[in-house]
Amino acid sequence: MSRNAVRFLRNGVVTELSEVGANETLLDYLRLRERACGTKEGCGEGDCGACTVAIGSIKNGRLVYESINSCIQLLGQIDGKDVITVDDLGDREALHPVQRAMVDEHASQCGFCTPGIVISLFVLYHSGESADRENVNNWLSGNLCRCTGYRPIVDAAASAIDGKANDALSGRLAETQKILGEMQDEEDLFVGSEDRFFAAPASIENMLELSARHPDAVILSGATDVGLWITKQLRDLPKIVHTGRVKGFSDIVDSVDKVRINAGATYEDAHSVLYSIDPDLGEVVRRIGSKPVRNSGTVGGNIANGSPIGDMPPALIVLGAKLELRHDKSTREIALEDFFVAYGKQDRAPGELVTAVTIPRLGSSQHFRAFKISKRFDQDISSVLAAFCFTLDGDVITTARIAYGGMAATPKRAVTAEQALAGVTLGDEAAIKLAVTALTKDFTPMTDMRASAEYRQKVAGNLLRKALHEIRVGDTKTTRLLAHREASL
Ligand SMILES: Cc1cc2nc3c(=O)[nH]c(=O)nc-3n(C[C@H](O)[C@H](O)[C@H](O)COP(=O)(O)OP(=O)(O)OC[C@H]3O[C@@H](n4cnc5c(N)ncnc54)[C@H](O)[C@@H]3O)c2cc1C
Ligand code: FES
Ligand code: FES
Repeated sequence: MSRNAVRFLRNGVVTELSEVGANETLLDYLRLRERACGTKEGCGEGDCGACTVAIGSIKNGRLVYESINSCIQLLGQIDGKDVITVDDLGDREALHPVQRAMVDEHASQCGFCTPGIVISLFVLYHSGESADRENVNNWLSGNLCRCTGYRPIVDAAASAIDGKANDALSGRLAETQKILGEMQDEEDLFVGSEDRFFAAPASIENMLELSARHPDAVILSGATDVGLWITKQLRDLPKIVHTGRVKGFSDIVDSVDKVRINAGATYEDAHSVLYSIDPDLGEVVRRIGSKPVRNSGTVGGNIANGSPIGDMPPALIVLGAKLELRHDKSTREIALEDFFVAYGKQDRAPGELVTAVTIPRLGSSQHFRAFKISKRFDQDISSVLAAFCFTLDGDVITTARIAYGGMAATPKRAVTAEQALAGVTLGDEAAIKLAVTALTKDFTPMTDMRASAEYRQKVAGNLLRKALHEIRVGDTKTTRLLAHREASL
């Protein structure tokens, strides 16, 4: 049995749509069909936040609201969820507390970014978190304001948000959760025809069967890559198989010696467990895109996409992560590094699914470091992502695992540098110099708009030195301006 209509909640009303374009975005639906034009379109690629909307869903038995970029979210992805746009918050007579504060603090000029900013702050308002400057900056990481400047916007957040929500939504949370609960069903969603469809199976078995039957279909998780194929490359993707409704597909199993992250877990879902493996791993995740990108983008999608500048793969490779893949009735597990074959080519057959990544926890003699280098702190792709895992016997390196993103056509280990460091004492400057030189044998990086080849090579060596220095001295006071490890360990 399958359901042939997308079903979601907005303003307390359940909408059922049987006419849903396979590539139709949520933003287009809101603006063109609902005429809910408060939500704006700026970049159309998840960068500016003008299109931010709030999505409510039940996670671990609790109703949770998250901000997402509606420009790159497909309409079918909101099946079973509550959608809140800026048009739903308040009106001229009764502004929402966040809107009121934006007015009072003069936090808007041209106003183009304002609907997105209001929604990001509205979701923060309902999160129970504090509105200290650092946290507000994090929540606004996906909202670009070109004219007002962020000081009055952050002031508005501080004046409206005190961790206790008391607005119209607060009064209908229980009812909303009940309706969303009733909307969850075990049926597969299939809208369209065999030649052109948006499908979202409810079980892994049905997902595998459908993707094996349609190996030409695009597998869709958070759409933070695929959405741009539609909006920027103007590609027509006739068949979409979405992982978002598969039961258990975003589960995370945390055990003593390893963590299993199922492929559909978003960055935000996985952040705390990755942080618990090492604070640097948590910080890499916190620096991926923006809050809305992290609310949609998945760890599995980041790996499956196979980008040479994806942030997760180098960090997970040095930790010795294993990738689980399933195709029709067969399951296999490979070392994550073996998944990346060449630029744009991964070890994945058409119709095969990435289903989980398993990451060993660090042993007491293992030391991990990871650094993201990009031109901006938030919302920027890495020029270089460096990750290191050293096993020590006293102060002697017995094993070195080093991997970089942005240095080659795939995320790649620095095997020559690793060999140069085996058996070396942490403070052995001559040996470290040889290892840094060995990086030039491991990589021939390219020059592009993010960084020159020379810069990449230089920074890769410097980050290796920095990691070794930090591990030797045991603190990051002299090596970091932000995110000192000592504060979080
Ligand atoms: C504004 C913006 C900023 C970004 N910043 C960063 C950044 O800082 N660092 C970074 O690393 N990335 C960044 N990205 C890229 C993106 O967020 C990641 O690559 C993301 O993890 C992809 O996951 P997704 O769930 O959205 O994948 P999707 O877009 O749904 O899919 C991506 C690819 O993986 C395939 N796929 C997805 N799930 C599966 C599966 N389970 N099995 C098999 N194939 C699958 C799809 O078919 C597609 O080829 C950014 C993107 C945007 C839009
Ligand atoms: S329009 Fe810019 S993020 Fe969506
Ligand atoms: S008020 Fe103009 S872009 Fe923010």
